[in-house]
Amino acid sequence: SKAPPCALVIFGAHGDLTKRLLVPALYNLTGGGLLDDGFQVIGVDRVESDDDKWRASLGDTMQDFTKDPAAEFYTPEINKDWWGWISSRMHYQQADFTNVDELKRLAGRVTGNAVFYLAVAGRFFSTVVENLGKAGLVEQKDDHFRRVVIEKPFGADFPSARALNESILKVLDESQIYRIDHFLGKETVQNILALRFGNGIFEPLWRRQFIDHVEITASETVGVEGRGAFYEPTGALRDMVPNHLFQLLGMIAMEPPVSFSAETVRTAKEQLFEAIRPVTPEDAVRGQYTAGKVQGRDVQGYRESPGVDPHSNTETYVALKLMIDNWRWSGVPFYLRTGKSMTERRTEVVVHFKQAPYAMFRETPVDALAPNNLTLNIQPVQGITMGISAKIPGPTMELGGVEMRFRYEDAFKLTPNVGYETLLYDCLTGDATLFQRADNIEAAWKVVDPALKAWEADPAGPELYEAGTPGPAGADSLLAKAGHHWMPLKAPKHDEPG
Ligand code: BG6
Repeated sequence: SKAPPCALVIFGAHGDLTKRLLVPALYNLTGGGLLDDGFQVIGVDRVESDDDKWRASLGDTMQDFTKDPAAEFYTPEINKDWWGWISSRMHYQQADFTNVDELKRLAGRVTGNAVFYLAVAGRFFSTVVENLGKAGLVEQKDDHFRRVVIEKPFGADFPSARALNESILKVLDESQIYRIDHFLGKETVQNILALRFGNGIFEPLWRRQFIDHVEITASETVGVEGRGAFYEPTGALRDMVPNHLFQLLGMIAMEPPVSFSAETVRTAKEQLFEAIRPVTPEDAVRGQYTAGKVQGRDVQGYRESPGVDPHSNTETYVALKLMIDNWRWSGVPFYLRTGKSMTERRTEVVVHFKQAPYAMFRETPVDALAPNNLTLNIQPVQGITMGISAKIPGPTMELGGVEMRFRYEDAFKLTPNVGYETLLYDCLTGDATLFQRADNIEAAWKVVDPALKAWEADPAGPELYEAGTPGPAGADSLLAKAGHHWMPLKAPKHDEPG
């Protein structure tokens, strides 16, 4: 059903996020008939512009951005009715959001329900929230809500995340805050819950007695490109791990929540995150890419990229081994890895089940049995793959590895989706299940902080890996210690955009 009437105020109206993701998502929500006639967007930025210019600048690039980056689903052509409907509700207000008096000018335009979306750099979060408070814009009344969406990066370590929470909680109630993590907007990420809790067969096996280890991979073929200035003080760990990879980990490893509601789901995640042992520096590997070829393209090394210090020690790759101290997972390693300029773009979770206990087939010794692993393919392949052993046809009892596959595009009609539709809709309807609570974020930082601290103090810097390869050798050694190995990454045959 339609979301209630509301003003969506976007700070950072001229930024990349607005153009690439927020406005295309609003366009798709329009197509789905999910926005109310009383919906409006107010874009706020320092740049001089007006309604018409702002609408035109966004309209020009809609075609490029209304594709689904994961499913490679392209909207054939912009639907003029949808774009007409949403663009006529888009207004521009030039203002400096760090200045309270300028923000006060919004008060006349924002009278009923409102969502303030902070699509601005992390260093402004606390100031903008403080100013929203001073301008009286976030006071809720019985007849209207006021909510604030905060993008990542939420802090740079545990102390700074805690300080940011403290500062915004002086102005807002926790229930008004929507800390966004766009991984939770992905269908395939939400499908992890559907798999685990919408089926009877997996959950009984989902524990240390049957699962040997779990791998979580988010490998990218893109490098830092023009984002050097952001990436230099950030690095792969802060950029991807306590947020995106922890969301995957949370979905995979939390206890079953009793309902799909904000507090139960977030409490289940919190209990999991609290049970993860802070990483030991020996279990954290960092890498940085040097020049190479990624899928046929020449790529300059990280240190040669614009905005990057030529002696930079910022990691563009990280691999971690995490252990969870609870009854379900004690002794089961969770391996996480993510990196830029790698061989292949692939995000997936692989659950490795324990082997058959012995081999009754003479021709196939136990170590020749195919491993039973369940792969949750997040992107670009969207689906689920199960590896099993099967009898190879013929007179002998020989077994070979095969795959059972579910692919989204085979089973369902894909809907246009840039990944922010669900999240925006949930925020308008007041469902915070797919957003981060303060304690979730802080608990995740606590786990990774020891690696950040150790790296800061270690002049050795990251291990180098050539662009277009699967990452540094140290990541393989990390798993080899326990007799494990990563699922191999390989370059796809066709050339695909990173
Ligand atoms: C962003 C990171 O949050 O997530 C990027 O800042 C990264 O560095 C991106 O490339 C990955 O998201 P997706 O949806 O493309 O997998």
